Amino acid sequence: MKIYLDTANLGEIREAARWGILSGVTTNPSLMAQEEGADFEDTIRTICELVNGPISAETVSEDADGMVREGVEFAGWHSNVIIKVPSTTEGLEAVSRLGRRGIRCNVTLIFNTNQALLAALAGAFVVSPFIGRVDDMSYDGMELIREIAEVFDQDPDIRTQILAASIRHPRHVTESALAGAHIATCPFNVLRKCMQHPLTDRGMASFLADWRKREAAMALATAGS
Ligand code: E4P
Repeated sequence: MKIYLDTANLGEIREAARWGILSGVTTNPSLMAQEEGADFEDTIRTICELVNGPISAETVSEDADGMVREGVEFAGWHSNVIIKVPSTTEGLEAVSRLGRRGIRCNVTLIFNTNQALLAALAGAFVVSPFIGRVDDMSYDGMELIREIAEVFDQDPDIRTQILAASIRHPRHVTESALAGAHIATCPFNVLRKCMQHPLTDRGMASFLADWRKREAAMALATAGS
């Protein structure tokens, strides 16, 4: 499973890009709104230079004509840009029209398997089930990923990838991979937590302490000889 970063914060993207594990980035209007004063086009262009993989830029139109207009504009900014459109019938039309122009789409705000299937049939490059928000409604986000994966597997013509979105904690990442997601898009804090373990910290501390003891003993031996 590939890992994308779910943010529009360039500092976070720069840092995670240095770790060498990122395959893409997802943004959305709410994430952009957190970056006060940042220009959308500049931000997307910069992200595309930092990460060589699909970078999702989301449309804000509610009708297919508007989504296509925005999608064509965003796709012109960089070849890494993919267009995020909502999981609505207007969104489906936008996906098929953008697809005919060779522009890839991420169908977002997916909350059931039928939305994912129809998006795939319209030619979506990726579909984004929002597992955290499904869990919030007391349903099982992982079950949604599993069901979509099973349905996609039944049709060899479906090449659409499943992107687990709305990830809230490290366990969501592991479970998404096990459930059949091709990609998980993670907030920066979740990604950092994925690498944290108290036994790693404790182990490092004891290795370093032993190394310092060894050096001190060697220094003493040299001084006494
Ligand atoms: C995905 O592409 C979305 O940007 C994101 O995962 C939304 O998640 P949220 O439920 O944390 O807002």
